[in-house]
Amino acid sequence: MRQAGRYMQEYQNIRNNYDILEIIKSPNLATEVTLQPIKAYELDAAIIFADILPILETMGLKLEFIENEGPVIHNPIRSLEDAVSLEIPEPINSMEFTLKAIKISRKCLDERGIPLIGFSGAPFTLAYYAVEGRANKNKLKLKSIMYSQPETWHILMSKLAELSGKYLLAQAKAGAQVLQVFDSWAGDLSPQDYREYVKPYTQRVFEIAKAANLPLIHFTTNTNGMLTDIRDAGGDIISVDWRIDIDKAAEILGDNVILQGNLDPAALYAPWPELEKRTRYILDKMMDRKGFIFNLGHGILKTTPTKNVKRMVNFIHEYTSR
Ligand code: CP3
Repeated sequence: MRQAGRYMQEYQNIRNNYDILEIIKSPNLATEVTLQPIKAYELDAAIIFADILPILETMGLKLEFIENEGPVIHNPIRSLEDAVSLEIPEPINSMEFTLKAIKISRKCLDERGIPLIGFSGAPFTLAYYAVEGRANKNKLKLKSIMYSQPETWHILMSKLAELSGKYLLAQAKAGAQVLQVFDSWAGDLSPQDYREYVKPYTQRVFEIAKAANLPLIHFTTNTNGMLTDIRDAGGDIISVDWRIDIDKAAEILGDNVILQGNLDPAALYAPWPELEKRTRYILDKMMDRKGFIFNLGHGILKTTPTKNVKRMVNFIHEYTSR
């Protein structure tokens, strides 16, 4: 999830010649990057190389990824008029580059028997970038619209939900076999604000995506104090970060969902015995849990030693096939 390839030399080599949006918008390059981790490790699934933010461009926002800073929106949403003027073009046309990348990637992945994950941002996380314009931990511009401009909030979040849902369906049609919704920053809300201002719109995304009849993953971080709300917002699979014991999360979430998680990405920097211990800790607790997906609790970090990734992935296969 995010930066799947960025810690890899193979990815850096391509990035030396193209910026990230150029890679995303070239179906052949995006396919090549999608396959890099699959070629390097015995992974069970691939995630299409794309980002949650290009869909904002199709609405009329000006997106740029700035080196060493991250994504910037040059014309952020601040008023009712701004929200009203956002367009909702059909992703089938406006996101054609990623849909093509999905089609091409599927051909290569089918030969290997590896399924492909498509994804989209959830309305709140998309709104964060659309409103703040650049990283801003307190999210004060976003939250002040949420608290004091109810109509602007509703229009913005409704449009993002429709578009996100439609984009997921378009990815399913193009060949994605699992769909993941990223609400990376939902945990910056209080549970009651999440329920009132965010959950109905995330629910709408899952309601639309359900028509694809595919497994749906709901990804968040920092939401361990509101896991049942996250679950009730939708998804067959709930992603859990490392700030809670996975068996405790399982107990809270109940038997009707599948869990994904929950290794701290920093654990990949630990000496092998420490990394093995942490991997085993999760596996031992989840071994008997139907459908459990071992994963990191958030994106892999940029300087992660690749040899540890390889060793961990191999260990998981060995340990779980005994
Ligand atoms: O995992 C993969 O390889 C699939 C591709 C993927 C990317 N972004 C490519 C990317 C996925 C699944 C994402 C999702 C994404 N993008 C999220 C949700 C998941 C999460 O990590 O919370 C979010 C919040 C974004 C927005 C985004 N994209 C940010 C904030 C940044 C810059 C900050 C950073 O850590 O670099 C990006 C850039 C980005 N998207 C990179 C990659 C590989 C790294 C930039 C680069 O190559 O220069």
